Amino acid sequence: MKVLEDRIRQEGLVLPGNVLKVNQFLNHQIDPDLMLDIGKEFVTLFGSQKITKILTVESSGIAPAIMTGLLLHVPVLFARKQKSSTMPGQLYSAQVYSYTKKTENTIAVESKFLLVDDHVLIVDDFLANGEAVNGLLEICRQAEAEVVGVGIAIEKSFQAGAKRITDQGVHLESLAKIASFADDQVHFVGEEV
Ligand code: G4P
Ligand code: NA
Ligand code: NA
Repeated sequence: MKVLEDRIRQEGLVLPGNVLKVNQFLNHQIDPDLMLDIGKEFVTLFGSQKITKILTVESSGIAPAIMTGLLLHVPVLFARKQKSSTMPGQLYSAQVYSYTKKTENTIAVESKFLLVDDHVLIVDDFLANGEAVNGLLEICRQAEAEVVGVGIAIEKSFQAGAKRITDQGVHLESLAKIASFADDQVHFVGEEV
């Protein structure tokens, strides 16, 4: 997706540890026009299939997810990372290991919001090792909901996540695919070097 790649080139900052900082438009300040463009792209890629719900995980997945849900007129459900006193009901949950923070977190949704007849499009901002998406897939399995696919804004293709998802037979689409951060520059998959 050219507009997203251009923004990453213009405003992305490569940090030590193969981390891309995009606080200008995604992870801190959010550009709603860009988020809407991302939502439109997910609708182009997945919209021919039946989708009844968008599923993401707080917090940075919510912006692209809500635009996708807006365009499809379906609810957007975000898994929570912290136990909430307003979530006393029955939960579907999964363990998500953060390689960047070296911590294990539980993500959870209330079971009443994910039903056996749901057709779920999973959306997230980043795909690195695939821990978050894997947890969301596990939650969908617990609900026996059908997963239509996974839409990612920025995939770090040199990490394990993409293979981990497609190996499960899940349809994955990533709008910007990063091949490497060699010389502290962002190199996209398929781009001439
Ligand atoms: P994984 O889910 O693909 O395994 O990712 P990983 O554990 O490596 O990363 C944990 C967190 O860091 C996730 O956000 C993920 O989206 C984010 N992340 C991974 N790589 C990058 C990167 O290169 N740049 C940026 N900006 N974020 C990255 P989170 O901790 O769940 O936080 P939130 O921002 O969604 O609240
Ligand atoms: Na994040
Ligand atoms: Na995220």
